[in-house]
Amino acid sequence: MSDLEMNDTIWSRLLALRQGAGEVAMTGAAYRLYGPIAGARGRFVLAQVGQSLDGRIATPAGDARDVSGRGGLTHLHRCRALVDAVIVGVNTVRADDPKLSVRMVKGLSPVRVIVDCHAELDGSESLFHDGGASIIVFRSVNSRRQPLPGAEIIDLVPKACGLDPEDILDVLTERKLNRVLVEGGARTIARFVEAGLVDRLHVAISPIIIGSGPSGISLSPIERLTGAHRPPTEVYNLGSDILFDCLLRLECTSDRKGQDIGVANQV
Ligand SMILES: NC(=O)c1ccc[n+]([C@@H]2O[C@H](COP(=O)([O-])OP(=O)(O)OC[C@H]3O[C@@H](n4cnc5c(N)ncnc54)[C@H](OP(=O)(O)O)[C@@H]3O)[C@@H](O)[C@H]2O)c1
Repeated sequence: MSDLEMNDTIWSRLLALRQGAGEVAMTGAAYRLYGPIAGARGRFVLAQVGQSLDGRIATPAGDARDVSGRGGLTHLHRCRALVDAVIVGVNTVRADDPKLSVRMVKGLSPVRVIVDCHAELDGSESLFHDGGASIIVFRSVNSRRQPLPGAEIIDLVPKACGLDPEDILDVLTERKLNRVLVEGGARTIARFVEAGLVDRLHVAISPIIIGSGPSGISLSPIERLTGAHRPPTEVYNLGSDILFDCLLRLECTSDRKGQDIGVANQV
């Protein structure tokens, strides 16, 4: 496990890399962890989940605010600062009323993207009124059509899986939003993982036991562990939390067609 040494110089270099600066002599745990996000020049999808020791991301009532410790939250804000867009599902907006902004570190807030297939949001949610970064809402063409304050609404033709995550990414790519953080909840992350679109999965584990409630990632059931994902993983000490940085795809800097790895079929 690597201790994550972070200071203003390292963070400024990572922000410069995000803005297009070349990669110069960047070594150490912080660069290994954040360099691939900041340095990605094509499509790059990071999914991140903050969970308890027993694998929960919220209480059954949906309270998720203090699952992560300070180190885990700071890490999440760093990830937001290094991407162009952050994606959440409609349940997360309703349960958490999130700002999805960068507040705990220096950096720009990403464009906020909400997957609201059935147009469940009505515009009363705080993020439509907080004057923060732009908001894009993806809906099904079959949903009702009322506008949402200050948000761009994009209607997609639904497929068997609902809104196809690849269609969502294609729209974002057209807007030059290439680096994407899928922040939750579990069902939204699952769609992107099952579509094979996630380059890196960050699982931050906090020493809290919730006991019941939704789990971090819920994928389609498998019968045998030979079918489990076993991604190459590096582990980082965030202070309050432990982070598993899982490499879900081989080419994680630019090539969206990068070959999948880590889906075990290993005995
Ligand atoms: N600790 C953390 O890191 C963290 C982060 C974020 C959220 N949370 C917590 O997670 C909970 C919410 O998780 P969740 O999994 O219920 O909600 P979610 O992922 O925020 O939203 C799920 C809803 O969006 C729909 N959806 C997502 N992607 C879709 C797609 N591509 N096409 C069509 N529909 C799509 C789902 O449809 P289906 O029903 O058809 O799947 C479902 O109705 C909240 O309690 C929140 O506090 C925790």
